This record gives sequence, C-alpha cells and structure tokens, in this order.
Amino acid sequence: MSRVLIAPSILSADFARLGAEIAAVAAAGADFIHVDVMDGHFVPNLTIGPMVVKAIRSATDLPFDVHLMISPVDPYIDEFAAAGANILTVHPEAGAHLHRTLQAIKAAGVKAGAALNPATPASVIEPVIDDLDLVLVMSVNPGFGGQSFISSQLRKIEAVRKMIDRTGRDIHLEVDGGVNADTAPKVISAGADVLVAGSAVFRGGEDAYAANIAALRPGA
Ligand code: DX5
Ligand code: ZN
Repeated sequence: MSRVLIAPSILSADFARLGAEIAAVAAAGADFIHVDVMDGHFVPNLTIGPMVVKAIRSATDLPFDVHLMISPVDPYIDEFAAAGANILTVHPEAGAHLHRTLQAIKAAGVKAGAALNPATPASVIEPVIDDLDLVLVMSVNPGFGGQSFISSQLRKIEAVRKMIDRTGRDIHLEVDGGVNADTAPKVISAGADVLVAGSAVFRGGEDAYAANIAALRPGA
C-alpha cells in the first residue's frame, strides 16, 4: 500500500487566519488540505464556497482535497475546479446521477472522489469504481468537526480496500471523522491511505501542529 497521507480539515482552523493556518499545517508536514464545503441543506451546517477556496489557493502548493457536502452539486463543479480544487469528492445522495457527476468532475480537469456516509453501503460505488480516483469513507455523520469515530465503519473501510485492490488501480482510500492518535492505527490497518483530521491537528496552537500530524502516522 502507498504511504499514508495526512489531510488536515480546515473546518477546525481559525477562520480569521485561514491562509496562515494552511501555511502552518503545510510546514508541519500535511500532504493534502481538506476543505469541507457545506450548504445547510445536504448537511446541517454552512461553511465556505468557491470564492474562499480561490482566496486561500495561494497559501500552499499542496493539493486541495475538496469535500462537497452540497446538493445539488453539479452546478458548482466547474466553479470549484476553477477556484483551485485538485480533488472534488461528492456524495452519491447529492445528485440523481453519480456517474454523470463524476464525468463532469473529470471533464473539469480534476480528480474525482465519492463519499460514503455511515449509513451508505460500499456497494453504492461499485458500479463507478473505475471512474474514481478516491473513495472517502465517512466515520461520522457529515456536518461538524469534533464528533466521535463510528467504529462500525472499520468493516466498510476493509470492504472498500478489497474493492480498490481488485481494480489494480491506484485509488486513494480516505477516512474522515473522529480520526485521532487512538483511531488512526485502526483506520490504517483496515486499509486507509489518506487520513482526514480536523480537531486532532488544529489544537494546541501552531507549534503543536507538527507533533499532532506525526501522531497520526503509522508507527507513531
Ligand atoms: C465532517 C467533515 C470532516 C470534519 C472532521 O463533516 O467532513 O472533515 O471536519 O473533523 P474531525 O477530525 O474533528 O472529526
Ligand atoms: Zn470532510
């Protein structure tokens, strides 16, 4: 399996200093910047849109891993791609035609991901696995940072790992929600290779970020 990548979720950053916070986690060893986009409709919270993604793009060269928790999602794909997203991940429930949405993401020139809510089975993405660059297993119900890891999702991570390995392609398996130094080893041994973490990274002030990120890596 490929190296484990750490994707700090800026949902837990200080929004008044977003550019500086991104630069700080980049300097502290982050691999992706995870951007949680919420619409107050698909999920019960409102966060940021393409204008903010564009504004923070210059803070780092790291890939922007943009998690779209919005419905409808199709009308916004080109705008997020133009704003500087490198990966766009959508929820199958956010549109009527997941395959069409994934094609639109690829046509926009960015990598395509699909996210599975805790109650959504892995089988939903099986028919489109060849169109995916990333599968995101949600280990909390989307909407807020700082929630507790739902352990039943470990079995789904294992199932998705097998599904990915059967393709023989290099598809990222990302896990998002309640990932910390205690849950990270379980998530990694279940087969994940990208760990999203918000509250476990953005705590203790900037000087703690490097240690917070290091604590999530295998063997920490
Ligand atoms: C939840 C978001 C997550 C969240 C993770 O809807 O998708 O990315 O910010 O936060 P923690 O790591 O605090 O659970
Ligand atoms: Zn997320």
